Amino acid sequence: MDMIGTLRAAFHQQFGDREELRYFFAPGRVNLIGEHTDYNGGHVFPCALTLGTYAACAKRSDGRIRMYSLNFEGDGVKEFNLFEIAYVESDGWANYPKGVFKQFIEAGMKIEEGFDIVYSGNIPNGAGLSSSASIELVTAVLINEWHSFGVSNVQLALLSQRAENEFIGVNCGIMDQFSIALGKEDHAILLNCDTLAFEYSTFRQEGLALVIANTNKKRTLADSKYNERRAECQSALNDLQKKIDITHLCELTADEFAEVAHLIEDDICRKRARHVVTENERTIRAINFLKNDKIEKLGALMKASHLSLKNDYEVTGLELDALAEAAWRHPGTIGSRMTGAGFGGCTISIVKEEQLVSFIEETGAMYQEKTGIQASFYTAGIGGGARELTKEEV
Ligand code: GLA
Repeated sequence: MDMIGTLRAAFHQQFGDREELRYFFAPGRVNLIGEHTDYNGGHVFPCALTLGTYAACAKRSDGRIRMYSLNFEGDGVKEFNLFEIAYVESDGWANYPKGVFKQFIEAGMKIEEGFDIVYSGNIPNGAGLSSSASIELVTAVLINEWHSFGVSNVQLALLSQRAENEFIGVNCGIMDQFSIALGKEDHAILLNCDTLAFEYSTFRQEGLALVIANTNKKRTLADSKYNERRAECQSALNDLQKKIDITHLCELTADEFAEVAHLIEDDICRKRARHVVTENERTIRAINFLKNDKIEKLGALMKASHLSLKNDYEVTGLELDALAEAAWRHPGTIGSRMTGAGFGGCTISIVKEEQLVSFIEETGAMYQEKTGIQASFYTAGIGGGARELTKEEV
């Protein structure tokens, strides 16, 4: 059965027959380059995936929300009242959509009826492909469309980010929610995270494939380590601000940073800031290389990005390093690096299509030899952003 058929059947089983059932989708995302720059006022270069989270939804009239996820069937139906939304540890995955409902209400938008919702996603969980931002955005679009609130996609992204910051307690930047809300088929998004100015850049390269490789190492302690990195960047910024007038680390070029780096007292915070500043420069250069068809040079920057995330930002670890190193050795690889927050999860590689099969075989074998874990490989399709599915699509 296809995804919509599966959702429809699960909806009927959990919540019974309903006259009006509507369907929504939000993608996952992969970031080509520009990691841990978003919360430092820098640039990122992500794209939305064709993989994502689907939701089937019908209205209720009693102000209650009932939710069920086919990805967490054992958790059963989660139920809450629209007027008393609180974070409940045992609600697990359902806290993400709950946080989004709460943000709409806090923003003064009137949601008085309730909903029954069934979710199902095909993004591997905990792989760094933003399954959490995806469920946030599919919920945000669902609320927005059903009430005809007319909230823009950019505002939906900001609202979902607030849900994650305030309700979930992960201090994430805007990259994931933004790329998921504004994704466009066959395009990556160059986003300035300080101003939210953005442009689409075609990413369909003749003869090249975008390959996501999952270390299948679950991201452990990722949320607390992520918040720790943010705090280290803030501390570096505070030290610099005592002597120079800047708002974000990414206002500095790498050369300017080299001149003021000594102002950062703590060695670790200095390394973190060096990653951020050099990564921002790499991202801007990468886009120019892509525009000018200098794909090999983009590949070299992807490797430099990974090494900086390994040595200065320290978010890679044995598995991500093993997978990236195996890819770098393969003749079909243009570029490869970890993607997302790190601490486990996935790499993204640009690979010559004619060598794709041997890339997967050889990289996978080398990785398994080093770590004892079998990696999974997906050829990534770049898809559109979060939206209601049309009648033709369901
Ligand atoms: C996570 C966060 C993003 C971003 C990346 C690292 O995906 O949600 O905001 O900081 O990590 O680039």
